Amino acid sequence: MEKNIVHIVPQVEVKVIECGPLRIGGHVRIVLPNGAVLVKRRTFICRCGRSKNGIFCDGSHTL
Ligand code: FES
Repeated sequence: MEKNIVHIVPQVEVKVIECGPLRIGGHVRIVLPNGAVLVKRRTFICRCGRSKNGIFCDGSHTL
């Protein structure tokens, strides 16, 4: 068995949704610009910049 090989089991999955948000599955800690901390099990992060819900997707990318 080789040394220095670390087997990491991913705890979080980030799925890139084509023309949509990033779907993050797994417990994540999100630190907002104002210092507020959110812990979420699953979330969708806006990539289009049109969301009226801060960093979170509100479906506006479909408009
Ligand atoms: S990706 Fe959905 S509102 Fe931006």
